[in-house]
Amino acid sequence: MARKPFIAGNWKMNMTVASGTKLIADLKPLVKEAKCDVCLCVPAILIPAMVKAAKGSKIKIGAENLHWAASGAYTGEISAEMLKDYGVKYVIIGHSERRQYFGENNDTVNMRTLTALKNELTPIVCIGETLTERTNGETENVLTRQLEFGLHGVEDVKQIVIAYEPVWAIGTGQTATDEQAQETIKFIRKKLSKMFGVKEANRVRILYGGSMNAGNCKGLMAQPDIDGGLIGGASLKLDFAKIVNYEK
Ligand code: 13P
Repeated sequence: MARKPFIAGNWKMNMTVASGTKLIADLKPLVKEAKCDVCLCVPAILIPAMVKAAKGSKIKIGAENLHWAASGAYTGEISAEMLKDYGVKYVIIGHSERRQYFGENNDTVNMRTLTALKNELTPIVCIGETLTERTNGETENVLTRQLEFGLHGVEDVKQIVIAYEPVWAIGTGQTATDEQAQETIKFIRKKLSKMFGVKEANRVRILYGGSMNAGNCKGLMAQPDIDGGLIGGASLKLDFAKIVNYEK
């Protein structure tokens, strides 16, 4: 079965109710004919207003994180149930900024991923190497560890979306070349095949993320193993619609 392309935005810590509502209102008509799945992952506090803004459109609203516990003394965290209350379907897990600034590691990524799955939320699990790791030839080892630990105990891997985001390409304007992205994502799929079987691995959607924009999306999307994008900066503007309509 062919994998349906998926273009997801990650607003990170940007936008307000007013600016987000306006952007979604402006995007709605532009993505009306989208052939791919479309989602915007937004700061938790904006979820209710953005769900309302996106109602009746192709745009699904996702979250940027979730906690593994059902409830309890975890100040500042958000539970799966809270996300589901608003009809959220997708949730980003283990973004490199969470790993870099907030102590996330493969174990917390694993707990969050399993919790998302248990609650029928689709986790967008982020993996990727730093520049030093790439330069030292450690990319494949790093990705292998992130996949083996991060996805430990996952039973139905096709319920997961993987986002390959090389850290050196995030917010830097330095996109991976089409070939670099394809080669690495092909490796990720091969690794998933070893872990879960070829048939299952072939059904997992793997996105590329890192300075993807309206100019470079077409080339990246033409690669056989790249099924979509996780878009940061360009998801804060109307360019996001151009990426969604990358085929046009
Ligand atoms: P940029 O598109 O701004 O490089 O960010 C990518 C990203 O981190 C998406 O999660």
